[in-house]
Amino acid sequence: MREQVLTWLAANVPATRIDHILRVERMAVELADSHNIDREKAASAALMHDLAKYFSPKRLLQMAKADGLEVDEVLATNPHLLHADVGAIVARKNFSINDKEILQAIANHTLGRPGMSQLCCIVFLADSLEPARGETKELDLLRKISYSNLERAMWLTCDKRSLTLKAYRTVQYLLERRCTIHPRVITTRNWFLTQSKLKQSITGSSA
Ligand SMILES: [Fe+2]
Ligand SMILES: [Fe+2]
Repeated sequence: MREQVLTWLAANVPATRIDHILRVERMAVELADSHNIDREKAASAALMHDLAKYFSPKRLLQMAKADGLEVDEVLATNPHLLHADVGAIVARKNFSINDKEILQAIANHTLGRPGMSQLCCIVFLADSLEPARGETKELDLLRKISYSNLERAMWLTCDKRSLTLKAYRTVQYLLERRCTIHPRVITTRNWFLTQSKLKQSITGSSA
């Protein structure tokens, strides 16, 4: 299966993106081990998370609509955001992945989703924090937190992460430049902020 996906990626994705995918796979496995999550599922979801990254906007919209996905206004004007959902469709159709947890982890890696599973969090965080994202103190702290507290890492990463296309931007950056922000990023952030506070009030720890 892994070889099959790698062969497909080599034909559909630039080599630099494959390097990113392999780094996400490695970090997802490490996070899975730290949080007692199925490492095979984490590796599969990470390996397939960017399958549709280089599909054209037209193809993304067509595939999303054909599969019955709801394409709201923000998605319609920023079809690249659909590469996560469409990646899950490709995983299902091309690689016969029927495991819902894996498909959801692929589909939620860009916008997140309130209440999403720990496996989803692991792929989201590995995608956002893999080593080549940068070597700042802030990123290193987020990486450290991701190995100990998924909820806290999620809300802090949502505050810093890109909401649109290429770069690793903050919400503040997008507001200042008048970019559209998909509401799911905000609801995801709010969900994990609340969960993190709840956990903190129960355990008395913010680690
Ligand atoms: Fe992606
Ligand atoms: Fe990615």
